[in-house]
Amino acid sequence: MSEEKRAVITGAAAGIGRAIARELGGSYPLILIDINEEGLAETGKMIEENGGKAAVYKADITSFEAMNELSARIEREYGPVLILVNNAGVTRDTLLVRMDPESWDMVLRVNLTGAFNSSKVFLKPMIKARWGRIVNMSSVVGQMGNVGQANYAASKAGLIGFSKSLARELGSRNITVNCIAPGFIQTPMTDDLPQEMKDAYLAQIPLKRFGAVADVTRLVRFLISDDASYITGQVIRVDGGMLM
Ligand SMILES: NC(=O)c1ccc[n+]([C@@H]2O[C@H](COP(=O)([O-])OP(=O)(O)OC[C@H]3O[C@@H](n4cnc5c(N)ncnc54)[C@H](O)[C@@H]3O)[C@@H](O)[C@H]2O)c1
Repeated sequence: MSEEKRAVITGAAAGIGRAIARELGGSYPLILIDINEEGLAETGKMIEENGGKAAVYKADITSFEAMNELSARIEREYGPVLILVNNAGVTRDTLLVRMDPESWDMVLRVNLTGAFNSSKVFLKPMIKARWGRIVNMSSVVGQMGNVGQANYAASKAGLIGFSKSLARELGSRNITVNCIAPGFIQTPMTDDLPQEMKDAYLAQIPLKRFGAVADVTRLVRFLISDDASYITGQVIRVDGGMLM
């Protein structure tokens, strides 16, 4: 276990975030953050049962104050965080003509401002250590757009611009910042989509299947490893060839 390389994963109570935690659990001490306390506790238990270390914190990433306090507390209680996976995300899908300002704000606040908040509050120890990894969970939709997802696509495209800017700002400190852009990955988020939408996606995927969470989690493991030390500012798609 790489004791000094503590990793924070946001949105770790379910889906891809939980799977990332399970992937990294045996190798890094983890700090898991989510608003879903029950799911979070369950993920923490899974990690500990497999011999890993996981501290869980219920927190809303949209609150800068809450995240700032939390990061100070984590540093006091555990030590510096050198790896951050900004994974938490939400959808509020509907056509723009029907989209209310609240749905727009909500998605931007969680998916984009949440990543800003977490990156800002956890950055200092990485700068001090002159080593850090930030992985932001974007989406293929941020690059190609999608009907009914103007808010989500804007947030995920925003995350790409955010990541590239951070990669430029932090490169001299040996901190890499990359985006993963998954296509259609089977999780609770995507299970809720109507069947005809799932069929339409499948028709656009050359590999003719939806992705598994492991397709994404293995890339996270690689991007935070020393093997990826010369990769920064990139958007890596895991989408079965949906967008080329
Ligand atoms: N599943 C896919 O096909 C897919 C495709 C592309 C991108 N993504 C992205 O991957 C990430 C994970 O998606 P998923 O499918 O596992 O979703 P999910 O809904 O299963 O999990 C998202 C997690 O984020 C948490 N969360 C939401 N708002 C939060 C907040 N304000 N503060 C803290 N935690 C919060 C939720 O409680 C949940 O546990 C998201 O950013 C999503 O946009 C998913």
